[in-house]
Amino acid sequence: MAEIYVLGFSGSLRKNSYNTRLLAAASELLPEGMTLETFDLSSIPLYNDDVRAVGFPKSVQRFRERIAAADALLIATPEYNYSIPGVVKNAIDWASRPPDPPLNGKPVAIMGASTGNFGTVRAQMHLRQVCVFCNMFPVNRPEVLVMRAQEKFDTDGRVVDETTRGFVRDLLIALTNWTLRLQGRST
Ligand SMILES: Cc1cc2nc3c(=O)[nH]c(=O)nc-3n(C[C@H](O)[C@H](O)[C@H](O)COP(=O)(O)O)c2cc1C
Repeated sequence: MAEIYVLGFSGSLRKNSYNTRLLAAASELLPEGMTLETFDLSSIPLYNDDVRAVGFPKSVQRFRERIAAADALLIATPEYNYSIPGVVKNAIDWASRPPDPPLNGKPVAIMGASTGNFGTVRAQMHLRQVCVFCNMFPVNRPEVLVMRAQEKFDTDGRVVDETTRGFVRDLLIALTNWTLRLQGRST
């Protein structure tokens, strides 16, 4: 089985975030050969091009290095006001800047949980648009749209809904296949 190293991050900074917990669920559902490291975005400052011009802040540098080292990314994003939260956009903005933007050419799987009825579909479509400019390659299917998240997690924050777990598992398998294909490692 091919080794795939994935860097995941959640677009929510709150302690009991459904999206952070969805990422935790992914780490329980990894296909053989895949490893998942998660990066906490709370250390990433707001983008400032004056700061970038004198050198990336330490946390940003570390984030960029972990992305560069990864075969693929896994993003769990909430939907804020029909789009991605500033936390996600801000992190991508830092990682998109030269030299050698680490997002360039990176395969990415997207998933999201919301308490509403549409499971972050509008945020995910916006994220896909951002991926175009960054030259990232999102997996198209399956779409992992966890709607009414409060019904899918138990009180300890574990994803207990089997359908949701199945979608996450399928997304990770699709990410493996997509990454191998983009890297020319498919057999
Ligand atoms: C600023 C803000 C805007 C939101 N906008 C939306 C929205 O457009 N669509 C939606 O389904 N939920 C929206 N919500 C509700 C989120 O889905 C809900 O807070 C969810 O739990 C956030 O993800 P988290 O649990 O990972 O923090 C919004 C929440 C906040 C705080």
